[in-house]
Amino acid sequence: MTDNPPDPSRRQFFRRFAGDVMVGASRMAGVVEELRERSAAEARELLGEDAAGDAAGADAPGAPTGFRTPFRFESDEALLVIDQRELPQRLVEERIRNAPEAARAIRHMVVRGAPAIGQVAAIGLALTARQARSARPYARRAILHGAANTLRTARPTAVNLRWAVDRLMARFEAIGETSPDGEAIAAALHDEAMAIVAEATDDHARLAEAGLEILPNPEDRPVRVLTHCNTGPLACGQFGTALGIVQAVQLAGREVKVWVDETRPYLQGARLTAWELQQAGVPHTLIPDMAAGPLMARGEVDVVLVGADRIAANGDTANKIGTYTLAVLAARHDVPFVVCAPLSSVDLATPSGADIPIEERSAEEVLTVRGTPIAPAGTPVHNPAFDVTPAELITAIVTEEGVLRPPFEASLAAAAKRRARRASATARSHAEAAPRAEAASG
Ligand code: MRU
Repeated sequence: MTDNPPDPSRRQFFRRFAGDVMVGASRMAGVVEELRERSAAEARELLGEDAAGDAAGADAPGAPTGFRTPFRFESDEALLVIDQRELPQRLVEERIRNAPEAARAIRHMVVRGAPAIGQVAAIGLALTARQARSARPYARRAILHGAANTLRTARPTAVNLRWAVDRLMARFEAIGETSPDGEAIAAALHDEAMAIVAEATDDHARLAEAGLEILPNPEDRPVRVLTHCNTGPLACGQFGTALGIVQAVQLAGREVKVWVDETRPYLQGARLTAWELQQAGVPHTLIPDMAAGPLMARGEVDVVLVGADRIAANGDTANKIGTYTLAVLAARHDVPFVVCAPLSSVDLATPSGADIPIEERSAEEVLTVRGTPIAPAGTPVHNPAFDVTPAELITAIVTEEGVLRPPFEASLAAAAKRRARRASATARSHAEAAPRAEAASG
């Protein structure tokens, strides 16, 4: 682990990151186009650069600056991920050199949040392919399949993990799993992992733009958003999902105030969301989870925005434990309940929430708070990390393909088709551009 004691300049990078998001978001009302066009290329560039390397010109509008993701490359051989277990007290990083190390970091919550774990898993697998460049073809095949399985099973609920790993393995299969060209395999898996990261940047920017249109816009006061868990850049890379919308609203010149659920037992809201909002300068108030009901009853919540770890084909949504309770409360008090997630969190192969595996985490997380016991030792514990909110309690699902409305079975399937069409159009235009670029450089 690289252990950096709290370092003001590093924090500054995060602030710059937040500023960047806000500059982007302020243009979203009409100019997200530009972000879309630039973001994929920018993400590729950024991920290859040291965060400090681009300090020159960092203040220029639109200049790539600082961390946009909870991870960055240290070298071609190692990724540094922010150890989210240590926040907000310490900003430290852990080094990942291959898939088993990525799986360990995911399992132990060093890196967490559905989109982020998908991206780190993809990079971990690509690093393993790099390490196996000179292995014999059948050995490499066994190594990569073993690594993929380790990653897929690191955490069971967020579908992004399996989706990202499957995508890299499909690329491996397309090359020919027993190809002797280890260099080509490593390069292809690296490209695929970078494409996943770059697409997430673009998708989350689109999602934030779509979210602008759904939020209430009171004339004489801030819109009051209640959120649960953590859906900012730490969880997603790049802009975040629900928190990306919050920042977009603020930058569109509208006032926003966020009620942040502390999110027992792991405290993602208290530790991470409050930290991100503080750096981004978004007004917020931390509340015990159980305060959400009385706040809604008093009419102090305009909308609930949450993320998703997996959305089934019928719209049932697995998200952080406590989300279902919020959805029931929102229905009781007539508050819109909005899920914000990229389509990589949608699992059309899972028909309903009943089929989503729910991770059970350690008793320790409930019996202690940050290492201090709060219950008699040995007390039996039930600690499901997620719950499922039935589709009927969800007002809308905001994705990169726009705001989806019930019936979700149809709107999710249509959005997935649009997303796939867009991906193949992008792939075609890249394929057409490549020979032109080669000719120009040669
Ligand atoms: O257990 P975690 O912290 O990985 O869970 C993450 C969540 O449940 C987030 O709230 C989320 O909505 C999915 S990631 C944007």
